[in-house]
Amino acid sequence: MIFFRKKLPDPLVWTDFHSHLIPGIDDGAKDMAHSLKLIKELSDLGYRKLITTPHIKSGQFDNTIESITGGMNMLRDELSRNNIDIQIAASAEYYYDKTFLQAIKDDNLLHIGRHVLFEFSYMTPPIDLEETIYELKARDYIPVLAHPERYLYYHSKLDRYEYLKTLGIHFQINLNSLVGYYSKPVEHVAKYLSQKGFVDFVGSDTHHAKHTETLKKAFNNSAYKNLFDNNKILNDMLVSDV
Ligand SMILES: [Fe+2]
Repeated sequence: MIFFRKKLPDPLVWTDFHSHLIPGIDDGAKDMAHSLKLIKELSDLGYRKLITTPHIKSGQFDNTIESITGGMNMLRDELSRNNIDIQIAASAEYYYDKTFLQAIKDDNLLHIGRHVLFEFSYMTPPIDLEETIYELKARDYIPVLAHPERYLYYHSKLDRYEYLKTLGIHFQINLNSLVGYYSKPVEHVAKYLSQKGFVDFVGSDTHHAKHTETLKKAFNNSAYKNLFDNNKILNDMLVSDV
């Protein structure tokens, strides 16, 4: 009897822009075994390059450039020891707080090809955003907002998304949002952003196996193909510095 390997969906993108794969430094992979398992799963899904983005959040995840690059180097060594053939680079997911604002002033940010990934509070909209974006752009950084579809306070004010784009903010949506992983309203807004052509990057935001499992569903969903039809997705154009 001949067994055929189940045909994998076309990933349409080879580079993931958002994940938590460095062991033990945030709420992502708990240990090295868990990291390797998640990376293997992402590789099986068709990814060839992973940009991993540990949280930097004052008081909760006090990561530094050193802790992140050190963790990434360990991970790279372990990947080659285990013959897992995938590129990995590190950046960060900055929480919009005083640590982030200070890092901008000090021009001491983790970035990928000048792109800086940051997230807002889920509870309250950011303050002094215009000034922060100005400061980032003045230092030649490209601001990228992580999962804009997940900030519920914008859901009843969809025109805010257009305003954020006019400030020069790039949007990275989570692919799992497209299939209702977070909630129906988040799915609805992710599709709205896709339809408007507002999406610049996509991310798996992988923390654990449920995320990689759901990605398979996302890849097979028509919303995924529509996203690539309606938007210029820049993931595969990223060049890493680390
Ligand atoms: Fe994240």
